[in-house]
Amino acid sequence: MKRIDKMQIAMIGDKMLPLEDVGPEYLDRGIFFGDGVYEVLRSYNGKIFAIDEHIARFERSLGEIEILGVDIDEIRTRVKRAFDKAGLANAKIYFHITRGSGKRDHLPEANIKPNFFLTVMELKDNAKLKDEGVAVSIYPDIRWKRCDIKSLNLLANVLAKQDAEKKGCWEAVFVDDASFITEGSSSAFFAVAGDKLQTAPLNANILPSVTRKYIVKAAANIGLKIVEESLTPVAARIAGELFLGVTTRDIIPVVKFDGQVIGSGRPGKWTKLLIEEFKKFTT
Ligand code: PDD
Repeated sequence: MKRIDKMQIAMIGDKMLPLEDVGPEYLDRGIFFGDGVYEVLRSYNGKIFAIDEHIARFERSLGEIEILGVDIDEIRTRVKRAFDKAGLANAKIYFHITRGSGKRDHLPEANIKPNFFLTVMELKDNAKLKDEGVAVSIYPDIRWKRCDIKSLNLLANVLAKQDAEKKGCWEAVFVDDASFITEGSSSAFFAVAGDKLQTAPLNANILPSVTRKYIVKAAANIGLKIVEESLTPVAARIAGELFLGVTTRDIIPVVKFDGQVIGSGRPGKWTKLLIEEFKKFTT
């Protein structure tokens, strides 16, 4: 029997093949290192919401991890093209760019070309979440120190969400080493006490949420004072109202925090007013 000459090997599932035959999708630095950044947008009734803010944040994320030479106008065009083609009135648009594909080496090859990937999926609004609110758990913020970058490294977020599910909760809220709440595993976090809306300040510990920006506007419109200060779980437990903010669902009332019922256990009056006020931005 003829012996195969020495060669570099890859295995995909149980299928063995020469390394050189492996497609670039398997050699993506996004898989090896989470070396990429992403965005999630949504549409309401056929119109993409806050595309400029999402594109601007994406451009910043790319710059912060030094993925250079991406034509950001081309990205915007692709997002619109895919959205138009899908024809979905209420869609979730996900896209990412990784540094590119190549052999696994922490140091990228010199002329590596970024990879782009996008999906448009139907977004089914779940009225029950808004009407009844959700429970959230807490989880230690074990993430890296640049959470302002929307990076593909989401392992801590995944672990937090799995932990939340085990506890019968919809979301996990991160608590840092100094015992302050930073944000949800995939959402921004807010508390209302009296006529004050409190949320963590924008810094490297949290993502500059696009929804947050519009919630702050909506809050000002209905006469809430904005306090950009982190709060502790102890303060959250006794807050009158809590809620989450995220692109895919805008505002979600929180009615249970780490086992503690919040307010009457139903979405609070300010939260409901904010949900109504937010609708003005999306219609
Ligand atoms: N997540 N904080 C984190 C850690 C997030 O992952 C997200 C959104 C937010 C809210 O940001 P925005 O309002 O811009 O959606 C805050 C997206 C939806 C995700 O990862 O799927």
